[in-house]
Amino acid sequence: MVSFTLNGAPVALDLPEGMPLLAALREGAGLSGPRFGCGAETCGACHVLVDGRSTPSCAMPLGAVAGRDVTTVEGLGSEAAPHPLQAAFLAEQAGQCGYCLSGILVSAAALLAANPRPDEAAVKQALDPHLCRCGSHNRIVRAVLRAASQMAGEHA
Ligand code: FES
Ligand code: FES
Repeated sequence: MVSFTLNGAPVALDLPEGMPLLAALREGAGLSGPRFGCGAETCGACHVLVDGRSTPSCAMPLGAVAGRDVTTVEGLGSEAAPHPLQAAFLAEQAGQCGYCLSGILVSAAALLAANPRPDEAAVKQALDPHLCRCGSHNRIVRAVLRAASQMAGEHA
């Protein structure tokens, strides 16, 4: 049994501690946001926030998050109350297939929490671990900058 906080609520998953966190989130907690890409911490599709830090979940064992705080893209916002990043990604149509976006959104959220007004270079650096096979990079960067402006009370 591994207990931790998931998207703001306590959970206890009766799964092996050595199971990859990504598999535990998808199969044990029923979350489809974090996605399997490479399985080798090199594509970014599986990123979640662990204690606020964007982290690949495909190789991290479930036991490593015991007592910690895990946030997936589902925890950022909802359809009714989207995170400003989610609204900005929609506004910019940032993405095509969407496979990469759950990981990118949590990394962008971590960036804006640490640096509310990043410049383009800072956004690109924060999103460097993430591959987008659809080539939506420019729109994605624009969306993060748009969200930062909106969160600062400006109109993008
Ligand atoms: S699936 Fe984890 S980084 Fe690619
Ligand atoms: S939108 Fe398709 S991989 Fe990024």
